[in-house]
Amino acid sequence: MAFMPVALLCSLTILSFSSLSSSLSWNYYYKSCPQVESIVAQVVHDATSRDKTVPAALLRMHFHDCFIRGCDGSVLLESKGGKKAEKDGPPNRSLHAFYVIESAKRAVEAVCPGIVSCADILAFAARDSVVLSGGPRWDVPKGRKDGRTSRAIETTQLPSPAFNISQLQKSFSLRGLSMEDLVALSGGHTLGFSHCSSYQNRIHNFNSTHDVDPTLRRSFASSLKNICPVKNKAKNAGTTMDPSSTTFDNTYYKLILQRKTLFSSDQALLTTPKTKSLVYKFATSKKAFHTAFAKSMIKMSSINGGQEVRKDCRFVN
Ligand code: HEM
Repeated sequence: MAFMPVALLCSLTILSFSSLSSSLSWNYYYKSCPQVESIVAQVVHDATSRDKTVPAALLRMHFHDCFIRGCDGSVLLESKGGKKAEKDGPPNRSLHAFYVIESAKRAVEAVCPGIVSCADILAFAARDSVVLSGGPRWDVPKGRKDGRTSRAIETTQLPSPAFNISQLQKSFSLRGLSMEDLVALSGGHTLGFSHCSSYQNRIHNFNSTHDVDPTLRRSFASSLKNICPVKNKAKNAGTTMDPSSTTFDNTYYKLILQRKTLFSSDQALLTTPKTKSLVYKFATSKKAFHTAFAKSMIKMSSINGGQEVRKDCRFVN
């Protein structure tokens, strides 16, 4: 162990957090908190009716939770003193709507104190967000535990929007997820918004021969350049992922085929025959996309982690 190369050690660390859980079950709260899912659904519904950006935020929050230390609510913990938590890691600074999970937790605690983990509440809220946006419904496996560790530095393990297909494949397979899961889950980009900083590299000084990524459609690149000029001062500037950014449809895959998606990681799905054929399949059938998305969400949301049921999602017990 002492002589193990750092890269191998990191891979093993992720692997050990990512074994698919057999400890989850469909009826975990059947006796102890039968109302939990309807309570969470109501809170997410009410928050969404006040703010249409909530569903995208909760879906991405669950993905970022599951990819670091498994789905253990570690993304919900606050930094303490000099110890920065995942929440304050660079890719997570644009996460928002944490208050929705906190208020769902308070509502659940009022009825079933000490029973339901924050990680489960986030998994329910992500599913409810998709349903509210017109996407598929699935049964969420239950019984996750909340973790006691959250480190900002570990957010470097999240996939970057500049990743190519082999980097994406590696990131997903370390967590037990396949290429089909990668293509289906990337469809989460049918919802929400991105800041200029996440795709700036593709539209200015892309490489030594191209100012703009040549895989981007020219007219689309020009419109992105207008929104995100080189010296972009507006911190919140950016654009929706998809013109129908509050609807869980299959437009995202159509946009990939038109070379009009924001990230290299989206466009990369066209660079292997297997992922390309799935993009075509989902672009032509919303039903096929919805079915695959639900299946892959169950897989992703079953990545193991956690030890306790937190009382307050922001702090360990
Ligand atoms: C495949 C690797 C992925 C990469 C590299 C990636 C990267 C990103 C980036 C850079 C943003 C924009 C952040 C910002 O500038 O504000 C974003 C937004 C988003 N991502 Fe991903 N993502 C990936 C996979 C996923 C998955 C698996 C899901 C969910 C199943 C997802 C759901 C979302 C959503 C809903 C948003 C919009 C968030 C909002 O509007 O608040 N992403 N993603």
